Amino acid sequence: MSFVEYSEFIQEGDVAIIFLGHDSMMPVKVQQGSQTQTRYGVIRHSKDLIGQRFGTKVTCGKGGWVYVLHPTPELWTLNLPHRTQILYTTDIANITMMLELKPASVVCESGTGSGSLSHAILRTIAPTGHLHTVEFHQQRAEKAEEEFREHRVGHLVTVRNQDVCKEGFGVTGVADAVFLDIPSPWEAVQHAKNAMKRQGGRLCSFSPCIEQVQKTCAALADEGFEEISTLEVLLKVHDVRTITLPLPDFGPDRPLETPTDTPVPSNTSVLCKTTTPPREMAGHTGYLTFATKPRV
Ligand SMILES: C[S@@+](CC[C@H](N)C(=O)[O-])C[C@H]1O[C@@H](n2cnc3c(N)ncnc32)[C@H](O)[C@@H]1O
Repeated sequence: MSFVEYSEFIQEGDVAIIFLGHDSMMPVKVQQGSQTQTRYGVIRHSKDLIGQRFGTKVTCGKGGWVYVLHPTPELWTLNLPHRTQILYTTDIANITMMLELKPASVVCESGTGSGSLSHAILRTIAPTGHLHTVEFHQQRAEKAEEEFREHRVGHLVTVRNQDVCKEGFGVTGVADAVFLDIPSPWEAVQHAKNAMKRQGGRLCSFSPCIEQVQKTCAALADEGFEEISTLEVLLKVHDVRTITLPLPDFGPDRPLETPTDTPVPSNTSVLCKTTTPPREMAGHTGYLTFATKPRV
């Protein structure tokens, strides 16, 4: 298993996602002799996981069952251990598209945080791209590096433990795209420009507050960035439901020829499949500011 390549069979050392039901999942590190407790009973790694196909339905100790899924960046985002606030797939999907990421892209990112966005970037730029990610919190930087190795994407990423606002990304003239998720992104704009290729590229900065956006846009304009635009993406999830709608009663409706003693079938309700408006909607995550560095 790797986060950038699909494998058919579960092996020792893999990460597997245990799917317990709608909105209920947990990640496990597969280890010979290990056990994982779930509300449906125990999963024995040696017997129930190792050598089985990803996607298998596993019967647990108490007779209940779970599905064992191959990890993806999207599933990891929903299951990863939080060390910081993270980005979710709705924002990540737009970031990946608007930064024009593709296999072989070179990307700079700061901060690494919990590595939620990093995994999606790595999957998109594999097998020949590279991610330079900067995190000034030492334990977070070390933990992210360890996770990238465990997820077998370590060859695609360099983690630097430094302050991006003071020391930049540690590379010059190599990046096709830069992504910022730090409290003062305007202080890193010049470093971002220096990290990017001479022929230009794309930048994105994520900020929760509009005051941060204003400062970032001003810094981007000062540094000669073009096509500056800020947007917010809101997700609306619809539930599918079968509902019963009552039919209006307009009285007997018999054709003219029908004798009066023939019973007329009366349907009082109809079943239909529909979507209901979301009961709750995810609120504001942050503003996404995009810009282009022109060719010099
Ligand atoms: C909100 S988290 C990033 C989350 C990440 N985008 C994810 O999806 O998991 C912000 C991270 O930036 C780091 N950070 C803040 N300012 C920084 C700076 N000047 N240089 C490097 N890292 C910084 C913080 O330590 C924190 O881990």
